[in-house]
Amino acid sequence: PSLKEVFKSDFLIGAALNWPQITGKDRAAAVLIPQQFNTVTPEDVMKAERLHPVWGTYDFSKGDQLIAYAKRHKLQVNGHTLVWHSQLPPFVHRIQNIDSFRTFFTDHIKTVAEHFSGKVQSWDVVNEALNEDGTLRKSIFLTKLGDQYIVDAFKLAAAAAPNTALYYNDYNNEQPAKRAGCIRVIQELKKAGARIDGVGIQGHWHLGKVPFKAIEESIEQYAAQGVKVAITELDINVLPTKVTGAEVGQHFKGDAASNPYVNGLPDSIRQQLAADYATLFRIFLKHKDKIARVTFWGVHDAQSWLNDWPIPGRRNYPLLFDRQGKPKSAFYAVIDAKLKK
Ligand code: G3I
Repeated sequence: PSLKEVFKSDFLIGAALNWPQITGKDRAAAVLIPQQFNTVTPEDVMKAERLHPVWGTYDFSKGDQLIAYAKRHKLQVNGHTLVWHSQLPPFVHRIQNIDSFRTFFTDHIKTVAEHFSGKVQSWDVVNEALNEDGTLRKSIFLTKLGDQYIVDAFKLAAAAAPNTALYYNDYNNEQPAKRAGCIRVIQELKKAGARIDGVGIQGHWHLGKVPFKAIEESIEQYAAQGVKVAITELDINVLPTKVTGAEVGQHFKGDAASNPYVNGLPDSIRQQLAADYATLFRIFLKHKDKIARVTFWGVHDAQSWLNDWPIPGRRNYPLLFDRQGKPKSAFYAVIDAKLKK
């Protein structure tokens, strides 16, 4: 079975692609992408540090290659991301003058959104602008431009990419306090006459701790604001993120404290992953009228960023396909969530 076929009448099914997937070097992904997915998100190649390395000098080559790949395989594309405090090119941090900073901000959004206009179907316009308590993160954008920057970003994006769905994207924004902050952002945008079409719930969750109730409430509450919901970066981390006996950032040394499954994944974990994914997709299906898209943050386990975070070199198992690209029990559980009601 194929995810995109099974969920065809419900929502789009996507995966994040990085350079090996875009270029076909990743053979397992080359088979899976056209077979399983109908939308893709560039995991890294459309971030500011990649597109705009030197002030005023844009390098669209890798982003364009992703677009060409998507076109060849009839995939939609979600642009990621126009405004994010992280992965900014170094020059941005050196801009002292506020007017110059505003020029960078305006020019970046305009140039990038115009370049990809008609080529991407949606944009994560602003990414991760909120603190966990729902207040605005004290990012370089807030510091230099004030609260108004989110409205400005959406207005600039709407002008440059008129037929593109515009999203606000964040993690943990299914949690009540952050969700409330996110709803305030939507309301501010609407009040200011800016267009926002959807909210992205990233969906970086943890095995056995997926906040199902908060997720369902969030889908309902965001939809009640008149916007679509997308699950934009779905994965379920099976490894502990708080680790003892290893320094965060230090390469994995093979110790069981930082990876209890260093000698392989027990069946019980495999089954729990399948059960968590099944429960999630049952929620998504129940609210399919509110959900535009469900995108996984990667195609298969070998590609996942979670192999390198917070400890580089650990093996993680967060996705539906294994390192050889074979469907896991979680894959069949997701399919069954739709077919065996
Ligand atoms: O490609 C280079 C490689 O050539 C080089 O040798 C290596 C050395 O560090 O770096 C490689 O690039 C890394 C890239 O991942 C590919 O693996 C970057 O340093 C690293 O910063 C980058 O991390 C990405 C991270 O965002 C930061 O941009 C991850 O791929 C990506 O999965 C992650 O995605 C974010 C979303 O954009 C926003 N939400 C959270 C999510 C997870 O952190």
